[in-house]
Amino acid sequence: MSDPSTPIHFYDQGEGLPDSLPDSPFPIFKSWFDEAWEKRITPNTNAMTISTLHEDGFPDSRIVLCKDIDPDQGSIVFYTNYNGAKGKQLAERPFASVVFHWDEYERQVRIRGQVVHATEEESDRYFASRRLESRLGAWISDQSQPIESRQALLEKAGEVIAHLNLDASALMNGEDVVVPRPPHWGGFRIHAQSVELWAGGVGRIHDRARWNRAVTINGDEISAGAWSSTRLQP
Ligand SMILES: Cc1cc2nc3c(=O)[nH]c(=O)nc-3n(C[C@H](O)[C@H](O)[C@H](O)COP(=O)(O)O)c2cc1C
Repeated sequence: MSDPSTPIHFYDQGEGLPDSLPDSPFPIFKSWFDEAWEKRITPNTNAMTISTLHEDGFPDSRIVLCKDIDPDQGSIVFYTNYNGAKGKQLAERPFASVVFHWDEYERQVRIRGQVVHATEEESDRYFASRRLESRLGAWISDQSQPIESRQALLEKAGEVIAHLNLDASALMNGEDVVVPRPPHWGGFRIHAQSVELWAGGVGRIHDRARWNRAVTINGDEISAGAWSSTRLQP
């Protein structure tokens, strides 16, 4: 093991935020996301840690994959099982905090916002684009529920194929089949109220700024005020 006193990260890229902060943080966030995605230095550059509120009062965090960013609306989307732990927590308390970290670029993005279901159409579209195994898996896994063994989980595949009346011989031949989207599976859209961008700076004088706005959600009606920004000490 190398000497732990040796710095492994020099924060020498020095590409901070613009002196004059833009009206919205989303164009910078999107450009950081796209750059990480295009270069794909790690396999899951769209991974984000999302924290929801557990009924015991503690935050509850796990990784999910960000599948859409809407810079105009100031929102992001991820997909999951609505009946899993985070799905139930969001049904109860529709607020989330997420963080992206792109270590290679010395960048962090923190977003807090209010959460709604993605539209049925976008969930259908995304579900249909997933690999067969993932589409079947959405039916097979009662996410976050206990199961006695991995074998028992695998055996559920047969039950699902029978339940959905899928063409078992086509599946055995490795062919794709149409799998309907489970009603309990779909997207969550997070409407950002607060976004913080962090860029590593030379000599650890990092650059950091936060944008806030008001978001009002009333059924299907979603409205958002203008962003206000503040530069923060690192
Ligand atoms: C790299 C990575 C990506 C993941 N992506 C997702 C995802 O997009 N959606 C999801 O529901 N779970 C995803 N998971 C699994 C979650 O971290 C978590 O284990 C699961 O959603 C159950 O969480 P819950 O019991 O708190 O609901 C991912 C895990 C990893 C490590």
